[in-house]
Amino acid sequence: MSDKTTKQLLDELEWLYMELYGDEDAFLYFMKMLEKNADERRLSLKKLDEVRSGDKDWYQSNKLLGMMLYAQNFGGNLKEVRKNLPYLEECGINYLHLMPLLDSVKGKSDGGYAVADFRKVRPKLGTMEDLEALADACHEKGIALCFDFVLNHTSDEHAWAKAARAGDQGARDRYFFYDSWDIPNKFEQTVPQVFPTTAPGNFTWLDDIQKVVMTTFHNYQWDLNYANPMVFNDMTDNLLYLANRGMDVIRLDAIPYIWKELGTNCRNLPQVHTLVRMMHLACQIVCPGVALLGEVVMEPREVVPYFGPAEKPECDILYNVTTMCTTWHTLATRDVRLLQHQMDQVCHLPEHCFFQNYLRCHDDIGWGLDYAFLGQFGIGEEPHKRYLNDWFTGKWPGSWARGELYNDAESLGDARACGTTASLCGLECGILEALDNKGDASLKRGLACDLMMHAWMFTQTGIPVIYSGDEIGQLNDYSYHDDPSHWDDSRYLHRGKFDFALAEKRFEHGTLQQLMFDGLQKLKNIRGEHDVFRSDAEVYVYYTGDDRVMGLKRQHGDQTLVALFNFSENPAEATIEGAVWRDLLSGRVLPPGDDSGMKVRLSGYAFCWLMKE
Ligand code: GLC
Repeated sequence: MSDKTTKQLLDELEWLYMELYGDEDAFLYFMKMLEKNADERRLSLKKLDEVRSGDKDWYQSNKLLGMMLYAQNFGGNLKEVRKNLPYLEECGINYLHLMPLLDSVKGKSDGGYAVADFRKVRPKLGTMEDLEALADACHEKGIALCFDFVLNHTSDEHAWAKAARAGDQGARDRYFFYDSWDIPNKFEQTVPQVFPTTAPGNFTWLDDIQKVVMTTFHNYQWDLNYANPMVFNDMTDNLLYLANRGMDVIRLDAIPYIWKELGTNCRNLPQVHTLVRMMHLACQIVCPGVALLGEVVMEPREVVPYFGPAEKPECDILYNVTTMCTTWHTLATRDVRLLQHQMDQVCHLPEHCFFQNYLRCHDDIGWGLDYAFLGQFGIGEEPHKRYLNDWFTGKWPGSWARGELYNDAESLGDARACGTTASLCGLECGILEALDNKGDASLKRGLACDLMMHAWMFTQTGIPVIYSGDEIGQLNDYSYHDDPSHWDDSRYLHRGKFDFALAEKRFEHGTLQQLMFDGLQKLKNIRGEHDVFRSDAEVYVYYTGDDRVMGLKRQHGDQTLVALFNFSENPAEATIEGAVWRDLLSGRVLPPGDDSGMKVRLSGYAFCWLMKE
């Protein structure tokens, strides 16, 4: 990067910093911190920065396939993850999201999202050296690593929290402390709750020091006060420290929450965007080969602003959360109209808006749908959420989905759903029915559904990210019910250990694992081989004339692809333009149609990738 560019970046940074904080000393401290991190960046990482500079293909290539996993579930620790890299290579993974593994205290760790030390790996999982060794091993194999940076809060066991508890005023100023409930109660009037049943309220009373502290998430996750420039300074320092350990993508956890203001809902406030922009600038200056992934699990209109304008980007990648939950809605309703509407918006976003696509992650599925759009069909938010939850927990008559509810607060009617992709798609029900000698029709339907859902994800522009275990159709893990530290958090339903023994069955012809594993491989390979899947392809919604069939058209150079997905268990028929079409998956050429178009028959949950010849 040229000096001039760096100067421009620094100028913008100073301008934003001074506007937000107006504190020159703090800014000087910040600049020194940047310099220190730039000096400490290893040569090998600087080389990566150089290679990646100006070329977004390293994270936008259609050859990328991601997976997210917990080290403790995938061999037990970082060294074992390293040993298991050949399996990931076999899966075709070249982007690996490691779930939180920094030091946090058992019993109050929120799956690692309550960090007690940003510079120490949880001893059970290994050491910082192990993490760096894993990063090096991944880089050798062409695998990029994504790492969580939990910045909205610290654990109450973090050094700052301990000092604050002990009475250190400087440390207290890093959090939100109150002597009485007066102000907290005022906040509660406008701030919604994240975990209304498992961790109600946004504040916690600390009896030992007779103070109230802000805790938006769990009572042991103390919110950091970013109005204090030292919090921003030291947390950005932590971010860069992690980047310098060899992390390629930094996931900004719960980013919309990091600025609080009385009288607001404390989400997505303008200052959050300034802070993210400043973090992006800091990365561009110190480690330009690192991308920022924003976790913005918000209603649709709040998500896209986190990309920032093209010339002043904030996050490089965002979770495609609205498409994810709309996809599950589509499965439960067999009606693609909302998905068409959603994709229409995604397809018209500016070029720099780049998503990470997924079906399942470690969290619940929240029903953040476009209810204004659904309203025109007489679908109301509350009854619809109830329907979706009933469908995905198998309560709805005839539903084959097997999941559990998450934060089911009767008063709010806002429960969410948990479960693995396979169980939610009907495989668990199918396996049980097959064992019960009821035949394998239900199993076959579940498999078709699971593959179709993945194919739909692979068709979209963005990084497709598989949730570990989904590649072999792993089912729900009910053992968390008996685990004293997890029984009240149903997200553990889909956070089971990866079943290596089951994975061996991928070599046995005709097993569910083989069909899933090879099915995904095929999709990944075809996606990587054809330019029409490149991220600079033009993509449109393709209307098929059947509300059960989702269509997407992709065009790149002289390649045209029409992808069709039957979101219903029954046969459906799509109408497409007359041409010579070859299905990339089966190799079959469709019988030619005429000017009035042609019909494509799709069996239940079938899909096809049709390339124009
Ligand atoms: C994010 C994580 C979630 C966690 C929360 C609090 O939303 O994805 O698992 O509970 O942040 O840190």
